[in-house]
Amino acid sequence: MTDVDPTGPMVRTVGVHKSFGRLEVLRGIDMVVERGQVCVVLGPSGSGKSTFLRCLNHLEKIDAGEIWIDGRLVGYRRKGDKLYELHDKVIAEQRRDIGMVFQRFNLFPHMTALQNVMEAPLRVKGESKADVRERAGALLARVGLADKATSYPNQLSGGQQQRVAIARALAMRPKLMLFDEPTSALDPELVGEVLDAMKDLAREGMTMVVVTHEIGFAREVGDLLVFMDGGVVVESGNPREVIANPKHERTKSFLAKVL
Ligand SMILES: Nc1ncnc2c1ncn2[C@@H]1O[C@H](COP(=O)(O)OP(=O)(O)OP(=O)(O)O)[C@@H](O)[C@H]1O
Ligand SMILES: [Mg+2]
Repeated sequence: MTDVDPTGPMVRTVGVHKSFGRLEVLRGIDMVVERGQVCVVLGPSGSGKSTFLRCLNHLEKIDAGEIWIDGRLVGYRRKGDKLYELHDKVIAEQRRDIGMVFQRFNLFPHMTALQNVMEAPLRVKGESKADVRERAGALLARVGLADKATSYPNQLSGGQQQRVAIARALAMRPKLMLFDEPTSALDPELVGEVLDAMKDLAREGMTMVVVTHEIGFAREVGDLLVFMDGGVVVESGNPREVIANPKHERTKSFLAKVL
């Protein structure tokens, strides 16, 4: 197999292992997410969900296994049967194709909503400021924030800040969006507006990997549910089927807690 496979799924991971010192956090994660699919990742605290997401865009190096995104090997190139880490510049290029939204919004506090969305595309030369501004404005409108372009993060609610964070991730025109518990830091009444923005994105065909405990979201827009525990995939399948009829004891007891 070469390092490029343009016909494959959007995400394919094979036997991904990751340790921190002696703590083995990921113990062989196999996952396939087809183009346009929404994959919801569930699992107890410490099961390795965030670590796995961070491996997907090579914010963490992996110890064994392979990660393919859009038919390209992530973070490494193959020579013979050995893998060599790519140069930082190439890794940064790969990462541009992957948008990431975290639990904490991490907006730049000294920039308006519009400036936050414009920041990354402006840093990558080649597009005029006017074009970037126009796209940023359209993205804010898309997440329902056309009227907040000139607001600073501290003038926005948590739900609004998170929607700016989504617009900001979309500004680089990613092929894949990763969400790490995007609603778990929000007041309950603000969760819906963020999930709605994510549902719109899913309906528009974005491929998404979403770590969340929002079972309703998994049921409604998920194509695939992956339940992780102890660094392995315990069970995966159609979200509605897994939620209605979990096969594994650990999945059952976890779902009983979050449902
Ligand atoms: N940089 C790090 N150095 C050392 N240990 C780490 C590091 N990052 C994560 N871990 C450990 O790896 C394990 C998995 O962490 P991870 O954050 O991936 O879990 P999680 O499933 O996302 O949990 P949560 O639901 O609480 O967010 C935990 O035991 C954590 O303490
Ligand atoms: Mg986490």
